[in-house]
Amino acid sequence: MTAWTLHQADALTTLTALPSGSVDATITDPPYNSGGRTPNDRTGASARDKYVSGDAKHQLPDFAGESRDQRGYLAWMTLILTQCLRATTTGGPLLLFTDWRQLNVNSDALQAAGWIWRGVVPWNKPIARPTPGGFRRSCEYILWASNGPVDATRNPIYLPGLFTCSQPRGNQRHHITQKPDELMDELVKICAPGGTVLDPFAGSGSTGVAALRSGRAFVGMEITEQYAAVARARLGAA
Ligand SMILES: C[S@@+](CC[C@H](N)C(=O)[O-])C[C@H]1O[C@@H](n2cnc3c(N)ncnc32)[C@H](O)[C@@H]1O
Repeated sequence: MTAWTLHQADALTTLTALPSGSVDATITDPPYNSGGRTPNDRTGASARDKYVSGDAKHQLPDFAGESRDQRGYLAWMTLILTQCLRATTTGGPLLLFTDWRQLNVNSDALQAAGWIWRGVVPWNKPIARPTPGGFRRSCEYILWASNGPVDATRNPIYLPGLFTCSQPRGNQRHHITQKPDELMDELVKICAPGGTVLDPFAGSGSTGVAALRSGRAFVGMEITEQYAAVARARLGAA
């Protein structure tokens, strides 16, 4: 079997063609459709406008999928997660990245899609900027769910409930919202050993790289051409 496949294509269209029960885990980091105080901020700004600070040194490309309003995002994520559930084997896990603004929408979407919600794992970023007059927004969140009962005999692991690490920097930075390799190396352990991990929003391929490094296979989708090319290069190297 090929260890990895990366479709440069729309996630929903491609997911509907995946055979049922063909992957062992879904681990994904969708566009957050977030990053703004008002609905206009959220739907009218690009990913770069929202998530890259003015003093950032990199010129990484923008990415698609950031302009839905809340109702559209909930409906779309429900459709996506319904297809992920169908493609994931019975008992298989879902890990879904989100931020504080979209935590409620994504927990609704995964349950509407038929997943059983199991918990929330904070990812603490130590170098997050201070917030004047309030709390530092230093966490993003990983929603954990399963396709029916968890079969712990298939994957007898005990994972932490909190992770602390920083976004990649310098020449390790390949994507505006890239997730750290050391975080992904821990998260892929939720997939049964030797299994296949699905990520319909692959970005620069961080989930897939961690899957391959741990002896698991990977199926990914990424709509933005430049990032699909980056993901293919990183997956090839892994
Ligand atoms: C939050 S980023 C993922 C970053 C990734 N975790 C990494 O570490 O590089 C979400 C990705 O989903 C992609 N995307 C947005 N809409 C999509 C769609 N309809 N189908 C497939 N990919 C899509 C974007 O281009 C973006 O690269």
